[in-house]
Amino acid sequence: MTRLKIAIQKSGRLSDQSLELLENCGIQFARSKDKLFWYGRNLPVDLLLIRDDDIPRLLLDGVCDLGICGENVARECLLDRQRSEAELTPEVALGFGFCRLCLALPETVSFDAVSSLDGRRIATSYPALTQEYLRKHAVSAEIVELSGAVEIAPSMGTADAIVDLVSTGTTLRANQLREVALVMESQAVLYSGTRRLDDEAGKLRALLIKRIVGILQARDSKYVMMHAPKAAVDAIADILPGAESPTVLSLEGQPDKVAVHMLCTETVFWEHLEELKAMGATAILVLPVEKMLT
Ligand code: PRP
Ligand code: ZN
Repeated sequence: MTRLKIAIQKSGRLSDQSLELLENCGIQFARSKDKLFWYGRNLPVDLLLIRDDDIPRLLLDGVCDLGICGENVARECLLDRQRSEAELTPEVALGFGFCRLCLALPETVSFDAVSSLDGRRIATSYPALTQEYLRKHAVSAEIVELSGAVEIAPSMGTADAIVDLVSTGTTLRANQLREVALVMESQAVLYSGTRRLDDEAGKLRALLIKRIVGILQARDSKYVMMHAPKAAVDAIADILPGAESPTVLSLEGQPDKVAVHMLCTETVFWEHLEELKAMGATAILVLPVEKMLT
């Protein structure tokens, strides 16, 4: 049977959470010292730890079967290689690695519209996305492609503006730059590649994707238990977000009250609990859900 090849970022913003996710799927890895290639001990899976920017290319070339990278990196690769979006299948948006690709200018330079960049130089590690953005705005500017340290280009005098990833904004502030326009929003996504898989490997890929969906659902889900007036059960089920039909149990010696148990598949906030209390609920417990398979 073919061993499934999965690529994640070697070191950076997505690395820790990507690895955690795969380990939560039940894959145990024998870690190699060089940290490039890890062997799945209990499942036929090989893990490749590489630069995030290389992940979409390996998926497109059929070297890897699953990969986790930012939407921005995936889209840049598709545009750059003029490949169709269908060739890189987004399987699951993972809810981490949120960032945005932005146009930024030195704080001292005024900005009215993107058109003011006509004839200027823009430094970026995302030339294809930048080009597409400029084309959309009918602006013609010179793109200065840099592989790193894009934020220092304006102060070095090699560019007038930059298009770069922003997550907290610290890097921009430290370099006296300000965000003036959004090019693209992004988060980490699990993608499938194009390699033809044999039956078993294909099934394993589908299984892992399903487990990842389950992990994400479980993360937001809570099991909520309480005692409540019998008459309030329907109203209670309406309040809790994403609640499935409640389990209602009678309480010994309390004919007007019942125990209510519910699985809530969306975030349960303190405000929800306060509302429940106001409806007469007592002994409210909110429990984490460890695993979920729907
Ligand atoms: C991005 C970007 C900035 C930094 C912005 O790099 O190039 O350097 O993050 O983050 P901040 O707004 O929180 O300061 P990234 O971590 O994606 O590294 P990479 O470009 O090497 O993948
Ligand atoms: Zn990168």
